[in-house]
Amino acid sequence: MDDRIISRVRELREKIERYNYFYYVKNESIVSDYEYDKLLKELEDYEGEYPELKDENSPSQIVGSSLKETKFTKVVHKKPMLSLSNTYNIKDVEDFNTRVKKILSSEQNIDYVLELKLDGLSISLHYEKGVLVQGLTRGDGSIGEDVTENIMQISSIPRFLKDEVDIEVRGEIVLPLSEFEKLNEVRVKNEEEPFANPRNAASGTLRQLDSEIVKQRNLDCYFYYLVDSEQHGVAKHNESLKYIAELGFKTTGIYDVCKSIDELEERIQYWEEHRENLDYETDGMVIKVDQLGFYDKLGATTKSPRWAIAYKFPAKQVSTRLLDVSYQVGRMGTVTPVAELEPVEVSGSVVRRASLHNFDEIKRKEIKIGDKVFIEKAAEIIPQVVRVVKEARSGEEREIVEPEKCPVCGGELERKLGEVALKCMNDRCPAKLQRRIEYFVSRDAMNIDGLGTKIVERFIEIGKLKDVSDVYDLHLYREELENLEKMGKKSVENLILSIEESKKREYSKTLYALGIPFVGKYLANVLSVESKNIDRLMEMGEEELLTIDGVGKKVAHSVYQFFKNEDNLAMIDRLKNYGVNFQEKSSEGTGEELKFKGKTFLATGKLKHYTRNGIKEVIEKFGGENLSGVSKKLDYLIVGEKAGSKLKKAQELGNITILSEEEFLNMIS
Ligand code: IVH
Repeated sequence: MDDRIISRVRELREKIERYNYFYYVKNESIVSDYEYDKLLKELEDYEGEYPELKDENSPSQIVGSSLKETKFTKVVHKKPMLSLSNTYNIKDVEDFNTRVKKILSSEQNIDYVLELKLDGLSISLHYEKGVLVQGLTRGDGSIGEDVTENIMQISSIPRFLKDEVDIEVRGEIVLPLSEFEKLNEVRVKNEEEPFANPRNAASGTLRQLDSEIVKQRNLDCYFYYLVDSEQHGVAKHNESLKYIAELGFKTTGIYDVCKSIDELEERIQYWEEHRENLDYETDGMVIKVDQLGFYDKLGATTKSPRWAIAYKFPAKQVSTRLLDVSYQVGRMGTVTPVAELEPVEVSGSVVRRASLHNFDEIKRKEIKIGDKVFIEKAAEIIPQVVRVVKEARSGEEREIVEPEKCPVCGGELERKLGEVALKCMNDRCPAKLQRRIEYFVSRDAMNIDGLGTKIVERFIEIGKLKDVSDVYDLHLYREELENLEKMGKKSVENLILSIEESKKREYSKTLYALGIPFVGKYLANVLSVESKNIDRLMEMGEEELLTIDGVGKKVAHSVYQFFKNEDNLAMIDRLKNYGVNFQEKSSEGTGEELKFKGKTFLATGKLKHYTRNGIKEVIEKFGGENLSGVSKKLDYLIVGEKAGSKLKKAQELGNITILSEEEFLNMIS
């Protein structure tokens, strides 16, 4: 056989294994699905044509991850968890129909169920006598990871079914788009790498060893497959969907039973146009033969059943030109290369910039300035450069040279061992200062209105903002402020009022505003409740910090180091002198802490300011009691966004005071 074929097959296997490793182990997609499938198809074609190349370890024979690096217990699936073969055009769907008809002999009437293909990670749940006993990821298809403890934290997964059945049901864990946006917003603020898409976020979350994190992230789960359906007395797939919904499983409720290929095509087109309105990601449609009686005859390959196929929607990828690379320096100094692009429209918006993540990525993708690149916009996230079209090179392209000094201040750059990010080490770097001040005044922190990027930039430039505490001196520069573009007397007045008013912020907010690495809103809340005031927090050693629930080694070390830094101590001193609040309001002796004594509370819906545990802690701190359901015993129901049945029940009972989150905040402030 031609050596070139052997070496191409080897190359394909290596590439696919590498992509699998990133996808399944690191939760990162470093190649588009389309490209991945193309490589896999090429490999399968070679292996089909030259049987001597067949190898049971080839990635074409393995579904999913290699499980080499799993931290969870491995469990053998009772029935393998297969994948679906992907198609990208209607012609392939027609071929699928022809194949099915041929195997079943053409006289048979075949119905198809068309469903959404959810883009998350698959899960298999086992129930005994209607009680949830085990949850497994797909793993390599034969062996999955036991993630039972984590899936128990997902509210849409029923712990008990309506009927005492022994059953195995499969579905997809997803992160709703609304939750994904919130999560990434927080990650960006904390200078953590944002998740590339909801699927990665869901997968990364489910593989957390700390199930408390899973609880906070509000994953969701939809079910689409009943294992051994016929044993449960159903004859059709669409009936099994109804049956599992009756048992208490969440299904998308969206499916069509199609009696002809024309009908299938028409519905596929419909969903391609309407999927944008859903709160979860779909990457295509799944077409399944409806009659379960045909499944045995249709059978399966090692990877996928022959009774179903996936039709993938075209990726939202477009090509454009990489004009230049600029740099963003984050609050903690992370230098991120950004692609400056020839403006191009991707799913309805014009994209001018895209993330290049870091220099390892640039090297791996071999990106050069002047290259024709493909960019992809998955969900509502920052567009990314997916790949380069090397064939389109003219020879004029330029290497992207890794900066040796900070591109903003010229300071030293460092790359920590094992990390990909370059960091500017100059504590006085104006870009870092700018980001720190923006963070300090942001809504979740000191909530200072009207101090926009331009003002901060200008005042750093003229040396009037040297650290965040200088914000409280801005009233001395009324004239300079009024002279800025778009600033009048009134807006300066409002800004100064807002700055003054921020001194009264709760201790947890001030703590958050300091920008201690790894201390986000949730941890700032925890630390404020535990320490009561900043002097006490500053006294704590790493050991003591570690005794606090929710504080791990990384956070303890970070907090401790933050308060050892002379510049930080001086800044806190200055903030104190300006009168910024650094203690819990309900300090002992005021009687305030018992404000809610004898009162009962329950929060429902999505809260903006607190996590579920956070609000419970506040209620307890003020002497209140948390209830878990709506009953006559309940005094206050705090309602967030999309409050559902609990709100309805509370309204029906009538004697319960309904509070918005803002009203609750007013009660405690
Ligand atoms: S049926 C034997 N239905 O897509 C296949 N899978 O690429 C049984 N998926 O592993 C699964 N939406 O994780 C099925 N409506 C749907 C689906 C779906 C998403 C996922 C699932 C599967 C993968 C295959």
